[in-house]
Amino acid sequence: MKVLIYGAGVIGSRYASGLFDAGVDVTLLARGARLDVLRNRGLLMAEGDDGPIRSVPVPIVDSPTYGNWDLILVAVRSHQIAAVLESLAGVGGDVMFLQNWAAGPEPLHEILDRDRVLLGFPNQGGVMDGDVVRYRRASAATRLVSMPIGEPDGQTTPRQERVVALFRSAGFAAKAEPRMDAWLRTHAAFEVPLGLAVHAAGGPDALAERPTAVRAMVDEIRLNLAAMPNPTVPGPFRILRIVPAALLVPLFRRFLRSSVAAPLHTDSPAVAGELELIADQLRASAVIRAAKLVT
Ligand SMILES: NC(=O)c1ccc[n+]([C@@H]2O[C@H](COP(=O)([O-])OP(=O)(O)OC[C@H]3O[C@@H](n4cnc5c(N)ncnc54)[C@H](OP(=O)(O)O)[C@@H]3O)[C@@H](O)[C@H]2O)c1
Repeated sequence: MKVLIYGAGVIGSRYASGLFDAGVDVTLLARGARLDVLRNRGLLMAEGDDGPIRSVPVPIVDSPTYGNWDLILVAVRSHQIAAVLESLAGVGGDVMFLQNWAAGPEPLHEILDRDRVLLGFPNQGGVMDGDVVRYRRASAATRLVSMPIGEPDGQTTPRQERVVALFRSAGFAAKAEPRMDAWLRTHAAFEVPLGLAVHAAGGPDALAERPTAVRAMVDEIRLNLAAMPNPTVPGPFRILRIVPAALLVPLFRRFLRSSVAAPLHTDSPAVAGELELIADQLRASAVIRAAKLVT
């Protein structure tokens, strides 16, 4: 399978290096300053805060038109998707989107044929440390979290099974998810209040020191989740609906102080731009739901 990864940030680089190490025919697409770094220094990867840096010789391109791809993985921030979609209209291959997204598949289908689109979400994490991608070290807890991969209409298809098998063959936990759209919306209902609260506080550690702000964030998450489809998907988010808010606050404070929350600490304009877009997407779907209730 010939794979193009579109976007060479944390997630695109992590999957590109993992697939390359497993012998997959994978190419990474970058632009601007990141493209220069990749061409001059190679793809530099390191595990955790102190793992050794290694260069992974993944082929690099600056346009999707340089190949016949079986699968294109889009790993840009959500608000950067429009330009990517336009550039893919004349390029063949299935396209799997790997980002926070709460608008459903329709905006993607407006540009790409229905039968080309797959949805997923990364089960990897990390940060850019200068030119180096420092990806989250695997732990017993992170190994339990699979990368969900689904058809927009929830069908089980051979191509979905092929993509799940591709990631598994490279050592990434992956699973077929029949309710991928609901999964993404529910995840966004959690991610937006969390991301905005972290941003307002100046980082996860700072937020952890403000129990009142954590409580407000928990209330917002629960309000959002109450409007999401039942049964809850991803399943563990059910806990956020049923456990009393007062008990969730100390759990969140502990999480915010942990290394898993570290990637939330960023003042990147791309993160702010993405949060703003997903917040808008959530608001738009709430308005549509309300309108349906009235009619
Ligand atoms: N990082 C994490 O730990 C993590 C964890 C779970 C989920 N996610 C989600 O995964 C998605 C990707 O996140 P990320 O952390 O990988 O983001 P990121 O580090 O900001 O990387 C995005 C990359 O895509 C590039 N890009 C954007 N538009 C492009 C275009 N038209 N052509 C070529 N390259 C383009 C960006 O380049 P420029 O810098 O030039 O814009 C950047 O290098 C997001 O939705 C994020 O919320 C991330």
